[in-house]
Amino acid sequence: MPVKEKKRPAVDAGARVGGPVYLDHSATTPVDPEVADLVHRVMLEGWGNPSSKYKPGNAAKIVLERSRERVANLLGAPKEDVFFTSGGTESDNLAIFGVMEAARDAGRGDHFITDAIEHSAVLHTVDALREDGFRVTVLPVTAGGFVEPDALRDAIDDRTVLASVMHVNNEIGTIEPIRELAAVAHERGVLFHTDAVQSFGKEALDVRESEVDLVSVSSHKIYGPKGVGALYIRHGVEIRPRQFGGGQERGIRTGTENMPGIAGFGAAAELCGERMDADRERIGALCDRFLGWIRDECGGDVLVNGSRENRIYLNLNLRFPDVEGESLLLALDLDGIAVSTGSACSSGSTEPSHVLLALGLSEQEAHSSIRLTLGRGNDEVGLRYAAECIGRHVRRLREMAAW
Ligand SMILES: Cc1ncc(COP(=O)(O)O)c(C=O)c1O
Repeated sequence: MPVKEKKRPAVDAGARVGGPVYLDHSATTPVDPEVADLVHRVMLEGWGNPSSKYKPGNAAKIVLERSRERVANLLGAPKEDVFFTSGGTESDNLAIFGVMEAARDAGRGDHFITDAIEHSAVLHTVDALREDGFRVTVLPVTAGGFVEPDALRDAIDDRTVLASVMHVNNEIGTIEPIRELAAVAHERGVLFHTDAVQSFGKEALDVRESEVDLVSVSSHKIYGPKGVGALYIRHGVEIRPRQFGGGQERGIRTGTENMPGIAGFGAAAELCGERMDADRERIGALCDRFLGWIRDECGGDVLVNGSRENRIYLNLNLRFPDVEGESLLLALDLDGIAVSTGSACSSGSTEPSHVLLALGLSEQEAHSSIRLTLGRGNDEVGLRYAAECIGRHVRRLREMAAW
């Protein structure tokens, strides 16, 4: 008797035509196989404690310092100024709280400045700062999504200690003018921190040129493992640690190091350095064409949220009038296509994106938006398939909305 062919689940339609299509690289990236191989080897062979004074410890110490050098190289920083953490969230918390507390202890000030489109790792730290008695100013952004240097200049007062503006926004991909902003801060003796979690390894950021004082980066956005990141702290910046223990990372971030994660992060950073230009050229060109295909499939009426100038090459944050973004996301998931309706951390919530609201969009406009972020695994076949599915669902959802 012939074997009855099973009806394939919808997700396989994607696999046959373009493969499951992952379009959420700003939420996280798949681990590069070369990186995964190193993580595996460090777990099995390099499991020593880098603080131990015998051979397995020494071997681990070599891996630790080699990884620090690899991360530092991508920032143009001396390796002594790079401290490993558990990721971008911890780096942001450590930078902001650490610098503000050190300044308050020394009687140097109590005022912090940031902006309305930061990641929650910064904005929720702001809530905690306020509860702790610090003063905070949150700057608005332009309709395109940029912080204006003049707005920062006007907000600085004699008690301002630190300003923090992200390099690339995680939802709309805008590249903030951090060079100018850092220069404005320094004119008044204010320190400058940038959350570079979305730009690290993708857009050049050299701390020798941009003169930022503190930079947060994360491994899992650059094809490395999760749960590891780093904070660059310019030599001489005073910072109060957030945790206390055995004194690892020169006391700035104590606790036995996550060696497999750190090794993987270092390898991922080095690969990004090698591939940065090629990735930008290939993925950027694909992204432009993808937008064209989506517009063709939807019959126009597709709007791009945020400026198209000064935007990271891999980000499309699109608005489809009369379409519920969440419904589109769920329909695409059944086709094997992964997109998001905001930052991964706030997905699952029905709140409209604070970033889109800060651009001046209404709640309804924010709810009819989705974020598509491309990466190394995307190709033309997958993106054509994704554009076709987006078009089909957008037309269907619009018909339903018209009922
Ligand atoms: C801009 C930005 N900052 C911070 C974070 C948090 O980084 P991590 O997930 O490594 O804690 C993210 C993650 O989405 C991010 O996009």
